[in-house]
Amino acid sequence: MSSLEKINLENVPEHVAIIMDGNGRWARQQGHERLFGHNYGVESVREALRAAQNTGVKYLTLYAFSTENWNRPKEEVDGLMDLLVTTITNEVDELDSNNVRIQTIGDSTGLPEGCRYALMSAIERTKDNTGVTLILALNYSSRWEILNATKEIAGEIARGELSPDDITSDVFEKHLTTRSIPDPELMIRTSGEHRVSNFLLWQIAYSEFHFTEVLWPDFKEEDLYKAILDFQSRERRFGMVSEQLNK
Ligand code: FPP
Repeated sequence: MSSLEKINLENVPEHVAIIMDGNGRWARQQGHERLFGHNYGVESVREALRAAQNTGVKYLTLYAFSTENWNRPKEEVDGLMDLLVTTITNEVDELDSNNVRIQTIGDSTGLPEGCRYALMSAIERTKDNTGVTLILALNYSSRWEILNATKEIAGEIARGELSPDDITSDVFEKHLTTRSIPDPELMIRTSGEHRVSNFLLWQIAYSEFHFTEVLWPDFKEEDLYKAILDFQSRERRFGMVSEQLNK
């Protein structure tokens, strides 16, 4: 029985978030520059998306470029931005015909103009699609997002539009870049690292974590199926006890 057949399709996470890690190490292992790994990583994005489509995952968020990634060597940053533009531009037809809706989270104002343009066109083109929502986290960091939300709320209070007592989780969430997206039930990190790296800190309050040794360019559909099976083996208690859940 394949991993896909073992999945209970009634209990698939609605939202899976992935920290795609290990491109650089994978490239070095093959005797290539780091960008070679990022290029191969695009094929793994396709694999993950296919697996999401096959299982009914509705939202797939990929950590493609963090705020901290600007500190990498210029050549790598430029290469990654070029790769994003070419990939989005080349893939948008197929994504659209597969009913995929593209969205981004993060501070898109800090991205190069070409990248912003490619993203805006892809978002506009696919906005009415009803299949998987593919969310690219670009120039994203959770601390930036939380600070940004705090500044917006402070502004509303200063203008007398909101009282501090009115700040609830729901109000706060409306100021995050993930505002219309449900929290991820499953967070995956590849490459054997066990860190969150400033990703979706607010949103992962109750997420299950799946860590795999697989380097991102080696990630296949099967790896997402295994992660979903791992998720389905967990008991999610949300602060309660087992007996309350099994009543
Ligand atoms: C982390 O590996 C990976 C990234 C910072 C970039 C990920 C981007 C892609 C796979 C391209 C995706 C394209 C689209 C359109 C979504 P690393 O470089 O940190 O690896 P290392 O830890 O081995 O050095």
